[in-house]
Amino acid sequence: MLNQRAAGVASVDGSLDRLIDDMIETMHAAPGVGLAAPQVGVSKRLFVYDIGDGPVAIINPEIVESSGVFRYEEGCLSVPGYYWEIERPDRVLLRGVSRAGEELEIEGSELLGRVFQHELDHLDGVLLIERLDPDERKAARKRLRERLID
Ligand code: CO
Repeated sequence: MLNQRAAGVASVDGSLDRLIDDMIETMHAAPGVGLAAPQVGVSKRLFVYDIGDGPVAIINPEIVESSGVFRYEEGCLSVPGYYWEIERPDRVLLRGVSRAGEELEIEGSELLGRVFQHELDHLDGVLLIERLDPDERKAARKRLRERLID
């Protein structure tokens, strides 16, 4: 599931409410700043985030513009306790649909821009360690393997 491309949501209606509420609860409990549907076993293009201003759900998100460069220690609720410094564009313009079915356009930079890019990666089946350079990726795989054995 985590390395598959998630399917687009065909119609935004109340049938997603339970899933969205469960995802927000899971994200807050972790605690984390973002969670994508494939992380809870649902292959749908949908994520939730909360960087301190309250939870928001974005359905069928896409990044339509990006600019700048931002290095950040990035972690993932699917590999708790691990952080890697990863460089990505700083500012992104995200388009999607709200849980109420309204078209959204949100600009995010720094942490918010990073959350958008990270969660979109989950919807495309791209894991965090695939964003590392080859040496870092090798070391990360080793650490993760050792953790699984422990
Ligand atoms: Co993640």
